[in-house]
Amino acid sequence: MAMPDASEPLLPRASRPRNGAVRLWVLRLGVAVVTIGGLLVLLNLSLHDHNGSGDDGAGSGPNEGGNAPLSAASLEACAWPLLEPHVSLLDVPAIARDEYLSRQETLASALAAAGVDAFVAEPSASTEYYANISSSFDLSERPFLMLLEAKTGVFSYLFETGRIAGLDMVYDNRDRTDSQNATEVAVAWAEEESPYAVLARARPGWKKVMLDEHARYMIAAGLQGAGIEVVPMSETVQALRAVKTAAEVALLRGINTFTLELVRSVQKCLRVGMAQEAVVTASSHLFARVGVGEGYWSIVLFGDQAAYPHGGKHGKTLAEGEFALIDIGSKLHGYGSDVTRTILPTGAEVSNELMGIWRTVFAAQSAGFERMRVNETCSDVDAASRVVVKEAGYGPFYTHRLGHGLGLEMHEHPYLNGANSEKLKLGEVVTNEPGIYVTTEQAKTIGKKFGFGVRLEDPILVTDKGVSP
Ligand SMILES: *[C@@H]1O[C@H](CO)[C@@H](O)[C@H](O)[C@H]1NC(C)=O
Ligand SMILES: *[C@@H]1O[C@H](CO)[C@@H](O)[C@H](O)[C@H]1NC(C)=O
Ligand SMILES: *[C@@H]1O[C@H](CO)[C@@H](O)[C@H](O)[C@H]1NC(C)=O
Repeated sequence: MAMPDASEPLLPRASRPRNGAVRLWVLRLGVAVVTIGGLLVLLNLSLHDHNGSGDDGAGSGPNEGGNAPLSAASLEACAWPLLEPHVSLLDVPAIARDEYLSRQETLASALAAAGVDAFVAEPSASTEYYANISSSFDLSERPFLMLLEAKTGVFSYLFETGRIAGLDMVYDNRDRTDSQNATEVAVAWAEEESPYAVLARARPGWKKVMLDEHARYMIAAGLQGAGIEVVPMSETVQALRAVKTAAEVALLRGINTFTLELVRSVQKCLRVGMAQEAVVTASSHLFARVGVGEGYWSIVLFGDQAAYPHGGKHGKTLAEGEFALIDIGSKLHGYGSDVTRTILPTGAEVSNELMGIWRTVFAAQSAGFERMRVNETCSDVDAASRVVVKEAGYGPFYTHRLGHGLGLEMHEHPYLNGANSEKLKLGEVVTNEPGIYVTTEQAKTIGKKFGFGVRLEDPILVTDKGVSP
């Protein structure tokens, strides 16, 4: 039986640091694996015959002769020439005006189908998605609401007189022949009035509205107090943003591929003795250097620190025999990247036992990957990745869900966990990120000396290729 095709990875899939029994091979991060038609295809294989010499590579790399070969500055200086050829990956246009308008139209029809009169949202990923109203707009006790009428798709917003300035909102009510027109886009209220009473007066036809999932309780209470019934965001409306358009996939592919190239460049320059913070700082500068520094975040954990989700020791340096876990991302025109690699510096090794754990996580990721197809239930995909880890005896140490949606938010619908019975939809982008985490205390209870953590993470585009005859 041929394995059915799986969904499409946004990235060359994974690195594979590896050591053999007799000769020691280190597969550098240049090794990527993608599945095409169910076959594993190795791309860009770059084997480094390490041959057990014990040389960790320090002094033979681009840092040779540097004054501080272990500093963040030296790491950045070494990585930049390797990363620079990939900067054009970020040449992807921002979402165009027409796409915002068509999103509003789609939402309007979905609202009509749901039997509500309008959609109400506070500044959030939803307003960013529908009207280019930034999610970083400061929320205060004074509401600023995006309003979209069902059926007509008429856009408006509620705000306090004089408070809104400089927003690049996208809307187009000029062509509408309906009850509202462009002159009524803004529903302003003065501070001595209830904004909800003003809204109820300005939109007398609105009896029932759908509230965005990110809106605060005070908004729901305020609307209800003004006689407007509030219903929660439906799964159908959530799915509108979860399913990506071609323009969104291009942005996600651009920033995620660039992020992987950044990790690769850092890997080639990483040295035993470097501190976790050096990787954090160098990576931050590398993203900033190409104009995508604003959304930067990272989790960089060495050795047993990787077993603690938020790390522990400040200033932990990479020792011989330890993995470096790098979970990192940034944003391009609002769309996020989220990539994790558990790697070794060039020439470094870990025990066969640790390599076995790395391979178990890789196999778990592969199992999840094969199940990530249209109409697969999220909880089933999560469970498929767990089987491999359980069989290897590490079930209790795979302590989090398999993955999450990725888009304007770093974590968004759909969530791949054991409790989610939603089905994957064509065009969703989700992460596949199994891991095994054993703290040093736990290690002692299972006959090991030191703790460790291994996670591999790739974003995946859900396709319908998985349907086999
Ligand atoms: C969306 O907002 C950004 C930031 O204000 C702006 O640069 C961009 O031109 C806006 N997009 C559209 C389509 O108006
Ligand atoms: C919009 O509505 C106002 C009042 O309801 C009206 O005076 C105005 O002419 C309308 N504008 C357009 C462009 O239809
Ligand atoms: C997914 O399920 C829906 C509803 O049952 C069905 O219409 C569609 O054809 C299925 N898609 C695939 C690719 O299996």
